Formats: sequence, C-alpha cells, structure tokens
Amino acid sequence: MANTGVIRGTHHLTFCVGGAQEDYDFHVRLLALKSVKKTVLFDGEIPIYHLYYGNDLGDASTLLTAFPYRQAGWMGKRGTNQAKQLNLSVPPDAIAYWSDRLGGAGVDVQGIELFGTERLFFRHPCGIPYALVADPGPDERAPVEGGDVPGEYAIRGAHGTTTSVREVGEMDFFITTGMQGELVASEGRNHQYRIGTEGGYGRILELVEEPDLPQGTWHFGEGTIHHHAFDVASEENQQVVKDWIVGLGFTDVSDRKDRGYFLSCYCRSPGGLLVELAYSTPEGFLIDEAADELGTHMCIPPHWEHRRAEIAQLEPIDTVETVVS
Ligand SMILES: [Fe+2]
Repeated sequence: MANTGVIRGTHHLTFCVGGAQEDYDFHVRLLALKSVKKTVLFDGEIPIYHLYYGNDLGDASTLLTAFPYRQAGWMGKRGTNQAKQLNLSVPPDAIAYWSDRLGGAGVDVQGIELFGTERLFFRHPCGIPYALVADPGPDERAPVEGGDVPGEYAIRGAHGTTTSVREVGEMDFFITTGMQGELVASEGRNHQYRIGTEGGYGRILELVEEPDLPQGTWHFGEGTIHHHAFDVASEENQQVVKDWIVGLGFTDVSDRKDRGYFLSCYCRSPGGLLVELAYSTPEGFLIDEAADELGTHMCIPPHWEHRRAEIAQLEPIDTVETVVS
C-alpha cells in the first residue's frame, strides 16, 4: 500500500477581512471566540496584522485567523474556483440561540438545511459567508470559558469549508486520492466530503458547483478566504503527505515555511482552494506568551522586529483584554 500520510482534520482557517476593529468585534464580541494571538503576516513587504481567534488555548481546529487588509487598500473578489464559506460547528440545539443573538445584533441570518444538518447562514462584515452547523457528531473540543455565550451553545471550532468550483471532477480526485477523503453525499450542486481521522475535527469539505460565476481572486484581498490549513501533526508526516501529493503530479507544493507557532507547506488544489499542511511546534502559541496571557501582547516575529515602528502604524484595536505592545 502506498504511504499517503495522515491528515487529521482542520488546523486553522485563514481569510482576508476589512478593518481590524470590525474583525475583532465580530469574532470576539459577537461570536465570543477568544483573541489568542496578535501578530503580523509573515509574508510580503507591508505590515498587516495577523489576528488569531479560537478557544482558550487556541487548539488546532478551533482557530480562525484574519489578515485585515482595508488599511492597505487591497480588495479581493469572491467568485468560483475559490474557497467560498467558513463552516463552524455548534452543538445541535444551539441554532435558535445563535439566530437570536446574531439577529439581535443586526446581522442578517438565514436558516437552511443541507446534508441533514441545520445551519445558520450569515456574513462577516467584510462579506465572507459563514455558516454555523448544528453538528450532531461527538465534539470534545473545549469552548471558550467565561464569555457571554453559555458553553452549551458556544462555537466549538471548524466544521470545514465550502469551495466554489466550476466542476467537481479534478477536485474530487484531489480530495479522495490526494487527501484520502471520501465522498459522503451529494445534493444537487452541493457535494460533501469527509477527510481526516477520528481524533481530528473540522473534517468536512464541501463543494458547490457555480460554473457561471467569474473567477475569484487568489491574492490577498479584503473579503475573501485565503486558505484552509489541515493538521498533519508532525514534520515526518507532513513530508509523507507532501511526497504523496507531489507524486500524484501536484509538483507545486511549497517548501516548508516557519510560521512561528507551526510549520506549513501550501498547495493550490484544482478546485481553487489553497490547501495548507501544518503541524504545530511543541510550544505552539506558548512560545511567546504564557497560557494565561495569550492574546495580551502584540507579538512581533524576530524577522519583523526591526520594523516595529511601521507595525505601530497599524490601526489601533479596542480590545476586551488589555494588550501590551
Ligand atoms: Fe495558514
């Protein structure tokens, strides 16, 4: 048997938003996630915040990470051949609570049912589609404690993503052969796949066929999802997964990049979704902050330290927690 390596599930979901304050308020004050790390985007020439939200410890699969691009003026365009929607798991009886909470905050919400699960559809202020999915499966992920959303209703973390595709064929091959996933069900233009292992979360990849939409942008830009990172757990396994995908002919998997808290390779999938294969370092988010201080510092990576003055020009964020710069 071929050694395909193991993808556990989601590691994190990353997207480009508008203003940093708007994004912080949406994720922390409305969705009641914790701001677990404030740092900067490691790539590129201009300083951009990298804001991480998740559960109290920022466990893999609970992480949503945002690049606020409005200050830089970089706009994205949503379309097909692009990641379309972030799907987050909530307990099965939490939909009514969230419908009231989001609706009460002036957010347009729409209840739908897809693949046998109740879902609440809404949008980030920058336009990115979100869905809360009433996930009936067992979910041992610890929710944020002490927030103003009761733990019984709190968001557990990633359920997965939906990618808009022109057609299913080549993406089906990438998911089922490259990522060792399986097709679970199809409903009209919607197709659901499960990847990963029993110990992982955020294992659901969905495709929606939208062949008539224009191409969505792949560069960093406000209003678009940038990538879906999957948890490959270790350096050795990351290499095995990469070798398997490269061996199928997807030779454009990137070199391993040090992201400070995890190490990552990136690969553009045929459906347009940028796939990241990541494993956390042993220290993870504790490499630059103590567990009880997560999110309370502006964490500057060593290679940006000499540009601290430029980073200080980023828009200030009014936060729930006290942040030391
Ligand atoms: Fe990432």
